[in-house]
Amino acid sequence: MTQRTALVTGGTGGIGTAIVRYLAKQGHRVATNYRDEAKADAWHKTMTAEGIQVCMVHGDVADPASCEAMISAVHHKCGPVDILVNNAGITRDTTFHKMTYQQWMDVVNTNLNACFNVTRPVIEDMRTRKWGRIVQISSINGQKGQYGQANYAAAKAGMHGFTISLAQENARFGITVNTVSPGYVGTDMVMAVPEEVREKIVAQIPVGRLGKPEEIAHAVAFFTTDEASWITGANLAINGGHYMGW
Ligand code: CAA
Repeated sequence: MTQRTALVTGGTGGIGTAIVRYLAKQGHRVATNYRDEAKADAWHKTMTAEGIQVCMVHGDVADPASCEAMISAVHHKCGPVDILVNNAGITRDTTFHKMTYQQWMDVVNTNLNACFNVTRPVIEDMRTRKWGRIVQISSINGQKGQYGQANYAAAKAGMHGFTISLAQENARFGITVNTVSPGYVGTDMVMAVPEEVREKIVAQIPVGRLGKPEEIAHAVAFFTTDEASWITGANLAINGGHYMGW
């Protein structure tokens, strides 16, 4: 296997941590961004104790200037980005008639505009080197919508629109661009949903349980391999059968 440089945004979160671990165990140099230094330090210590080296770079995916600096820092510390996983994401759940402009903008900036902010500074380099793997972490709720998530569902659906356009523009440069759409995975984000609401959601999952972060990481890692070079513009649903589109 060729060792590559991978940037996983939001790598300190639930699904992000599993993706970082998986790519690092495959032998890649892995970087992630952080905003809160204390939280990042604690997380980094845990990874190091597991024997996983992660290159930590400061950066806010919602801020274009911060992303320019973040990508330069990754380039400087571990080389040009070959694999980009746009994973960082937040929720500000509330029904639309109560939603503030700030709740709308926070979610759209962090989940969707981040795709521009982070991908724009890496794409030229990938095109020049004629190899790249870009994976967007979207959501089941970008596919089916969700009561209380007009902001999140709009941003997550937009991520796949980004994927399928970028896939067309960059296919002849050896760059694949795909989306993974996780369902409800047992992370802090999902555990923050009120318990009685969450129980009703889990009852709708045919497999009968929440997903595990590793189950998402496995699929993301597959998209980043050389063997997956003919898969581009795909949207892989991993949701325990909760939503079966085609
Ligand atoms: N369908 C129909 N009605 C629903 C409903 C649904 N899915 N969910 C709630 N309602 C109804 C309630 O029964 C209630 O009705 P009554 O007033 O008649 O009793 C009413 O809506 C409540 O509406 P409110 O506007 O007062 O809502 P609220 O302030 O109580 O909170 C909510 C609503 C914030 C959306 C809350 O229901 C919630 O947190 N829902 C879960 C949202 C969710 O799934 N988030 C996913 C987070 S994890 C994630 O995003 C990761 C991923 O990618 C999967």
